Amino acid sequence: MLLLVLLFLFLKANSETSFQYLLGAVVKHYKFCGELNCTFHHHEITTETLKFFPKNCTSICGILVFNENFDVDHEELKLHFQNVTAIYGALRLENSQIKSFSIFQEKKPIKMFCDFRRYTKNSVDGVKIVNNSQLTDLESLKNFELIQDYVECSFEVQNNKMLDAKELCGHGLMQNMVIRGNLRDCECRGDLITSENLHEYAKCRVLYNGLRLTKQHFPDNFSTFSNVHLIEGNVEISNTNLKSLSFLANLRLIRSVNKIARRQVSVNIRDNPNMTHLRLPLLERIENMLSGALIFNVENVHPDFCFNVDELHMHLDLEIQFQNLHATYCPDFENSGRIHRACKFQQLSSLEKGCTGIYGDIVVDVNDGRYLHKLFLLQYLYGSLKIQYMKADGLDFLSSLIYIAALDGTRPAVLIRSNKYLKQAAIPRLLTIISTYPEPVVLYDNPALFSDNDQCLMYRVSY
Ligand SMILES: *[C@@H]1O[C@H](CO)[C@@H](O)[C@H](O)[C@H]1NC(C)=O
Ligand SMILES: *[C@@H]1O[C@H](CO)[C@@H](O)[C@H](O)[C@H]1NC(C)=O
Ligand SMILES: *[C@@H]1O[C@H](CO)[C@@H](O)[C@H](O)[C@H]1NC(C)=O
Ligand SMILES: *[C@@H]1O[C@H](CO)[C@@H](O)[C@H](O)[C@H]1NC(C)=O
Ligand SMILES: *[C@@H]1O[C@H](CO)[C@@H](O)[C@H](O)[C@H]1NC(C)=O
Ligand SMILES: *[C@@H]1O[C@H](CO)[C@@H](O)[C@H](O)[C@H]1NC(C)=O
Repeated sequence: MLLLVLLFLFLKANSETSFQYLLGAVVKHYKFCGELNCTFHHHEITTETLKFFPKNCTSICGILVFNENFDVDHEELKLHFQNVTAIYGALRLENSQIKSFSIFQEKKPIKMFCDFRRYTKNSVDGVKIVNNSQLTDLESLKNFELIQDYVECSFEVQNNKMLDAKELCGHGLMQNMVIRGNLRDCECRGDLITSENLHEYAKCRVLYNGLRLTKQHFPDNFSTFSNVHLIEGNVEISNTNLKSLSFLANLRLIRSVNKIARRQVSVNIRDNPNMTHLRLPLLERIENMLSGALIFNVENVHPDFCFNVDELHMHLDLEIQFQNLHATYCPDFENSGRIHRACKFQQLSSLEKGCTGIYGDIVVDVNDGRYLHKLFLLQYLYGSLKIQYMKADGLDFLSSLIYIAALDGTRPAVLIRSNKYLKQAAIPRLLTIISTYPEPVVLYDNPALFSDNDQCLMYRVSY
């Protein structure tokens, strides 16, 4: 009896990964395959089962398994796959004696779809290449596209004693990638840096699977990263003594991965008590490869941690959302921009004409009506905006304003108060407000404004 119970438990535990369970999920999820007769129902590919391989299909559904029983001639196999451009399900090459796995037409991209398990606990199935002792060539797999509809298929290449898997390392995003135990594995894994292996990174131009520097006692000198120009994945720098990230002197692009539902932080800078600057001199872009937002966290850094114009400008342009933003303006903020200079605001009457960026806290007051034209070209405001006792009935003079970044945590980013004649408080082109004050937009005592003015909701606040 006990044995039966154990057996039952074993079967149950195994069921989520069993072939029948997975094939059932594939068939259920990709109904079109059934309609087109493009599902392969067998649990391994052999000369015998290949007779049932779907014909005339560009998309194949199934769990395609090449294992120790594989006995098909290479050219024969290629014929069957000649029209295939997409696989819905999973592909496994395990315990086989296959030397070369190049079943697809060369250079033709093969799309891999594995979202049939999207809503289950387990990670999605994808490509699994395990225990193939003779395998030396994985040419076909280089043409696999592993990301479809924002789901990245898993990609596992393990224990293939003759396989140089190094070249596969740039594949996909590596978020779901395991490459180990092969003749050669990945180098330049940014998530596996230790003070012992640090010197091995001197040759890396790309860091795979993000960059993670945390809690280790690293030397002061990180010049080993000076060749890195791309980081594939998310960045976490925490519990270090670093003063800035200037050791990434040639970094140009970060390709973050953040799924829409996960809200992972793309760049996480936290608990670095000596960090005062970001200082990534050549960084041009941060992209998200999946569908989620770009999220930054700047938390528990040195109290003087500051942004210059270009850094702030980039955050605004990329519409980055901040989880925490413990930051202020750098001391020479006005003159720190390569892209554009910011005019310094003292009062509207003395402001230069034609400023596209302004640094300082703008106040529009009772007697400023005749100077409002000075704000016509303003696009970037690095500071707060206060409008009070004004005689105008709208904010048309701010029609170019796109971004507001207010890092002075003592006041709201936008305060509109006591404007007797104001009927319309919309700033038409405003996209993003970054604010370190809990209530970024405050409006009161504007009697002509409708209290339920929908326009107010147009402000999008990113922190
Ligand atoms: C699929 O196979 C069934 C049964 O063999 C056949 O009736 C049907 O026409 C086929 N559908 C397509 C799209 O070929
Ligand atoms: C495959 O397609 C070709 C032309 O598109 C057609 O002539 C042939 O009958 C099809 N074969 C099968 C098995 O459906
Ligand atoms: C591939 O497509 C060609 C042209 O449509 C067709 O003649 C051939 O039978 C197809 N092969 C397979 C295996 O489906
Ligand atoms: C690969 O081989 C190891 C050791 O021989 C074994 O434990 C593992 O189950 C094998 N994996 C697969 C997928 O067959
Ligand atoms: C850092 O190390 C590199 C070599 O690894 C050396 O060339 C450079 O001078 C060092 N810089 C400092 C500031 O110690
Ligand atoms: C970090 O700052 C602390 C206190 O300001 C200082 O004692 C320490 O030497 C600094 N560490 C480094 C590596 O600069």
